[in-house]
Amino acid sequence: MTIYDKIGKTLQQLGISDAQGVESLFAELRKAAEQERAELVSRGAPNQPQRERLCKALRDRWLARKGGFLSQVDENWLKPSSRDLKPAVGRQFNELRRFAAGLEFEKLVEALPLQQEPSQQEELPLGSVAARPAPRDLTLPGLRRPLGSIHPVTRMQREIEDIFLRLGFWIESGPEIESTYYNFDALNIPETHPSRDDWDTLYIDSKTVLRTHTSPVQIRAMEKYGAPLYIIIPGKCYRHDNPDSTHSPMFHQIEGLAIDKDITFADLKGTLDFFAKMLFGEKVRTRFQPSFFPFTEPSGEVAVSCFVCDGQGCRVCKESGWIELMGCGMVHPQVLRNGGIDPDKYCGWAFGLGVDRFAMVKHDIHDIQLFFQGDVRFLEQF
Ligand code: FA5
Repeated sequence: MTIYDKIGKTLQQLGISDAQGVESLFAELRKAAEQERAELVSRGAPNQPQRERLCKALRDRWLARKGGFLSQVDENWLKPSSRDLKPAVGRQFNELRRFAAGLEFEKLVEALPLQQEPSQQEELPLGSVAARPAPRDLTLPGLRRPLGSIHPVTRMQREIEDIFLRLGFWIESGPEIESTYYNFDALNIPETHPSRDDWDTLYIDSKTVLRTHTSPVQIRAMEKYGAPLYIIIPGKCYRHDNPDSTHSPMFHQIEGLAIDKDITFADLKGTLDFFAKMLFGEKVRTRFQPSFFPFTEPSGEVAVSCFVCDGQGCRVCKESGWIELMGCGMVHPQVLRNGGIDPDKYCGWAFGLGVDRFAMVKHDIHDIQLFFQGDVRFLEQF
């Protein structure tokens, strides 16, 4: 029989006939009151209204004038007790009242901790210690979440950055949502110029685009820092290109820009040759062919001898022996002027490469889409 059952019976029914029996019965009841209070404090409450509700429920359970445990004790134990036992029961009852007052159920509202997360335990009846789930064992090992790995495009970007950082370049960035001025006009591509069509542009409005290349940051950096300037600019670019094995509407470029006094095309060739050897191995050779970009004059395309077949022809270089790397050239004097730099005092070179295409070549990946599909089976190979 639990102490709660005993409250519903008289002392006679419980077979208690001496002061000692009375004392241990009240001791059992005080213990139960204390335990319920401790239980509530250890559970806490999920929020303030619940905290108030739980505290009031505990108080009422013990102290309510009608039906509270103390008034039941008065009704069932004290009042019907025999004349012999009454003094002992009265003493114990007063003691119990003092004890219950000392538990200060009313003040629990402030003392009760608020739980971090709602718990199902909150609805369990008090006094049901045995039925409660065991408290969390904080010493158990935690759940391990798989960490993943660095994305191959990010890894490629960092490798390229590291090479240029060693050469004394630093990293600059710019907005992906760009004005047509920086994306085109300032780069010597006026509105009517047919070369604007070379970039399948995604327009936000007539004066705002998703940048089609990282070149607009050339102008922004010139305006911000002036000359001399040695920077690389990694970042996302967007074009209205249909997704296929070598095109993605969002892709990554790295721009390089060097502006100083007396810079020549030989500096550009030397730097890019060094870069290619650092990235693909000492044995590779670089090839420069003429090309056209409105913002460089002269302009060139750089290719590297295939690092897999050493220029013999294989799957990676599509049997040509060469792998196209990037566009480059000497910065057009008008572009320097647009960036606020005097072309009579300074000159420079620039290049722009596709990081995703570099990563494809390096890892012999045949479909650029694999980079962006988030398939763990693909990504965990790197
Ligand atoms: C440019 O964007 C020039 N701004 C590069 C440049 C900078 C030239 C400075 C001279 C001086 P181009 O349009 O060729 O050039 O793009 C450069 C590289 O971006 C390409 O070689 C390719 O690797 C990558 N690229 C372009 N479009 C896509 C696409 N849809 N998906 C993946 N990569 C792309």
